[in-house]
Amino acid sequence: MTTPAALCDVSPHVPPARLLADLVPPRHFTDARFATYRANPEFPSQGAAVARLEEVAATLARPRTGGGLFRRKKQAPPAVYLDGGFGVGKTHLLASLAHAVGTDAAVFGTFVEYTNLVGALGFRATVDALATKTLVCIDEFELDDPGDTVLMSRLLRELADAGVALAATSNTLPESLGEGRFAAEDFLREIQALSSRFEVLRVDGPDYRARATVTDAGALPDDVVRGAAQVTPGATLDAFDDLLRHLATVHPSRYGALLDGVGLVTLTGVHPVAEQSVALRLVVLVDRLYDRDVPVLLGGSGESGLFTPEMLGGGYRKKYFRALSRLGALADDGRRLVETAAV
Ligand SMILES: Nc1ncnc2c1ncn2[C@@H]1O[C@H](COP(=O)(O)OP(=O)(O)OP(=O)(O)O)[C@@H](O)[C@H]1O
Ligand SMILES: [Mg+2]
Repeated sequence: MTTPAALCDVSPHVPPARLLADLVPPRHFTDARFATYRANPEFPSQGAAVARLEEVAATLARPRTGGGLFRRKKQAPPAVYLDGGFGVGKTHLLASLAHAVGTDAAVFGTFVEYTNLVGALGFRATVDALATKTLVCIDEFELDDPGDTVLMSRLLRELADAGVALAATSNTLPESLGEGRFAAEDFLREIQALSSRFEVLRVDGPDYRARATVTDAGALPDDVVRGAAQVTPGATLDAFDDLLRHLATVHPSRYGALLDGVGLVTLTGVHPVAEQSVALRLVVLVDRLYDRDVPVLLGGSGESGLFTPEMLGGGYRKKYFRALSRLGALADDGRRLVETAAV
């Protein structure tokens, strides 16, 4: 039996060099390739998006500079935006593009990772560092973050001007309540001057995770959670309230680093979260757990009722439902992990 570590004891310090080195597709998408994307024939836009992205990858594989006396006319680098509902495979396709171009030539990160990079390196140094790349992929451009949206639009414009290809997905604006509403229009408006350069690839279809409705396998008693944490190597154990307090002290861009070397996250005393800012931080943590494939075990009242009915009916409902869908999947993984270890 070991004494499990606590996420609350970790305050990750991430040096700028690592911020750059970390700009690769996360573990969950390490094996994502165009070839592993199963285009659904019922939704032709899926096959069309793959075909176009493969073309983009092929274009980028060709050398960029013409050279010689007659320098070729400067051609605008491709910029693609993947538009679609949650779970249709946008991140899978974005990661596939990054892999096809090669992770030396392509960088892949979320919006918050890029804004944090600008914070750490400064704007100019970030442009200089990223301009050496062939392709910059931005997953989940945050349309609901007005200050950083302006900063990111500027960054993308400078990169495009420097000949860097861009590929992006975005979240939806909080007020975009309509189900099935696509976010391309909002994205193009937010990035303003750059919008005419983006080609929108629409990806229709249902949630591939097929967890559109939140399932709830039931929470585990806190004692069971504690016991599992003690016998599982790489497990962390925290009281839910302590973790929520700790998350407020760590920059969300470091939540990924918080999970370094963690094989299972166990939480006791999980209960409904009443405050929106606390809930949104939890959403970011769930996203990082999900893209790093870290299973969880939830004590207390578990995922059921985690977010209030107001949250699930409000502007950020999509984020909350997705977090519940992801958390449910990770809790299933956690239970399976513990059951396998027990036999
Ligand atoms: N057509 C597909 N073929 C194979 N795997 C897929 C396909 N679509 C999605 N997946 C897988 O389903 C999961 C969810 O897809 P992904 O995360 O790429 O969706 P997304 O559109 O980015 O969703 P979100 O809005 O939640 O970010 C991933 O594990 C992905 O690899
Ligand atoms: Mg995604």
